[in-house]
Amino acid sequence: MQQKPLIQLKDIYKTYTTGAVSYEALKGITLHIDSGEYVAILGPSGSGKSTLMQIIGCLSTPSSGSYLLDGKEVSQLNRNELAKIRNQKVGFVFQNFNLLAQLDIVDNVALPLLYRGTALAERRRLAKEILKKLGLENHYKHHPNELSGGQKQRVAIARALVASPEIILADEPTGNLDTQSGNDVIQLFEQFTSEGKTVIVVTHDLEIAKRAKRIIHIQDGKIAN
Ligand SMILES: Nc1ncnc2c1ncn2[C@@H]1O[C@H](COP(=O)(O)OP(=O)(O)O)[C@@H](O)[C@H]1O
Ligand SMILES: [Mg+2]
Repeated sequence: MQQKPLIQLKDIYKTYTTGAVSYEALKGITLHIDSGEYVAILGPSGSGKSTLMQIIGCLSTPSSGSYLLDGKEVSQLNRNELAKIRNQKVGFVFQNFNLLAQLDIVDNVALPLLYRGTALAERRRLAKEILKKLGLENHYKHHPNELSGGQKQRVAIARALVASPEIILADEPTGNLDTQSGNDVIQLFEQFTSEGKTVIVVTHDLEIAKRAKRIIHIQDGKIAN
C-alpha cells in the first residue's frame, strides 16, 4: 500500500475581504507534501506564500478547497479545533522572530509547552535542552533584545521545536539575517529533515530555495511550475 502524503491540498482558494473590497490571494492550489520532505516555497512578494503557509500551519482556513492533514480534513475546523491540531503538529518560525521582550529566552522557548499543560520545571528543562542543542547555552538568562539577529532566530527555531512537532514551517526565516547566520539556519533545517521531520521554508531567495529537495514556485496565488 502506498503511503498517504502528510499534507494534501486540493483546489485551495483564499479570499480576503476588507469592507467592500475582496482580494483573491490563493487561486486553486493543489499540492502534496510527504512526511520527511524538505520543501521550499519560492515566489515574489505578494504572491500568496504567507497565506499558503498559514493555511498549511492551521493558523487560518481556506475559503474553499480541501486540506487533508495526516488524513484528516481540517479545512472547515473552528478556531479551537484548529489550535489543538496546530499545537500537536506544527512548529512555526517567523521572519521577525515574534519573541516576547519581557521573557528571558528559556521562558520564550518554553511557551508552546505551557499551552500543552507541561509543568514549569519540565518546561524549562526541555527549553534549555533544545537551546543548548542550538548553541545558546550561555544565554539562558538573556532577553531577546540582548541577542544578535542570528541568535534571536535560533531562539525562535528552538521555540518551534521544543514540543517536537512533526512539521516545521518557516516563513522567510532568513529575511532578517546576514548571509552567514542565514546559512546556519538553513543548515539546521537540513539537519531536522535528516531526523525525519517535515520542513517547509518560504523564501524569495533562490539560493536558499535551491538547498531544499523540492521547490514549489508560487506566482499570483497559483503554482507556477
Ligand atoms: N489579512 C489580509 N487582508 C487582506 N489582504 C491580505 C491579507 N493578508 C494578505 N493579503 C493580500 O494577499 C496577497 C498575498 O499576501 P501574502 O500571502 O502575504 O503574500 P507573500 O507572503 O507572498 O508576500 C497580497 O496582495 C496581500 O496584500
Ligand atoms: Mg509573506
